[in-house]
Amino acid sequence: MALLFSSKTDDADLWRDALADELPDLDFRVWTPGGEGGADGGDPADIEYALVWAPKKGALRKFPNLKAIFSLGAGVDHLMVGRDLPEGVPVVRLVDPGLIRGMREYVIYWVLHHHRHFGEYERLVAEKRWRQLPQADTRKRRVGIMGLGILGADAAAKLRGLEIDVAGWSRTSKDLDGVTGFHGAHGLGPFLERTEILVCLLPLTPQTEAIINADTLARLPRGAVVINAARGGHVVDEDLLKALDDGHLAAAILDVFHTEPLPDDHPFWDHPKVTVTPHVASLTVPATAAEAVAENIRRIRAGQPPEPIVDPKAGY
Ligand code: NAP
Ligand code: GLV
Repeated sequence: MALLFSSKTDDADLWRDALADELPDLDFRVWTPGGEGGADGGDPADIEYALVWAPKKGALRKFPNLKAIFSLGAGVDHLMVGRDLPEGVPVVRLVDPGLIRGMREYVIYWVLHHHRHFGEYERLVAEKRWRQLPQADTRKRRVGIMGLGILGADAAAKLRGLEIDVAGWSRTSKDLDGVTGFHGAHGLGPFLERTEILVCLLPLTPQTEAIINADTLARLPRGAVVINAARGGHVVDEDLLKALDDGHLAAAILDVFHTEPLPDDHPFWDHPKVTVTPHVASLTVPATAAEAVAENIRRIRAGQPPEPIVDPKAGY
């Protein structure tokens, strides 16, 4: 029985080695659905597990013995929308300690960058100007994290460790130590109104698509900063640019975009208030992620369900 691996960006050799360390008996097959690379995965009846990023529409339906579809990323929007997956086969999200660490680093780095005015210092130093800016009280710096799941809850806890005043917004009510919780549609406005640095770590679903728009941006205090490390579809680009241009927002750090790679002519590239990173807020680390995938395969072999399973209705 075999695992089918398919991704245009993830390294098959690293995954093969990492999974072999965990499950030496696992038959690892690289698959290019549609036959672009000629690898067809062999006999479809052999395949029990698929480890994939964004398979072609309907492509996973041809495996009659498929027991689980493992996402190669924490997000699953690339799997849930328009993929025509086989019914009854669980889609399993990736919970990778390496990916959690990476996102924590990205969020802390950019929050501190703005909290401590390091961007402003870069500009001053480039002009050889020696100037000390007032240092804000960390305990009064209000950061708001949209999405308090695996990544958001971790980032919130680590920011709390720095004594930053952290709030979070989620779909259901959360009680995280030291984190002011808001939830649901009614909680969004009050959450935004107290947020100086907004961090988006939501999954992309029909409910969260375009959630960073003219209305929600207007609820942020003047001078706020937006950090989007989730998905490009969360942002209405024109609304964000307008809020930056009219001075309502001080800056935006954007890791994810509607189209990736970001097209050459997109205004984000050279906007003075925008920092672009190329979808690297956190990358899946095969060495640690393989442990999570292997553990789920062991669970399935022992007759237990893998976890966490995506709720198809919620879309995450
Ligand atoms: P997760 O564990 O599923 O957490 C999702 C959080 O969002 C939960 O707190 C959930 O609320 C909340 N949420 C979902 N729908 C909502 C809604 N309609 N209103 C309010 N809150 C809502 O996801 P995760 O593992 O933390 O990952 C989050 C996202 O990060 C991924 O989906 C992916 O898009 C992105 N990501 C980006 C990178 C990168 O490199 N840029 C890397 C990894 C992941 P409940 O707690 O109430 O369910
Ligand atoms: C990356 O964007 C992920 O979802 O893991």
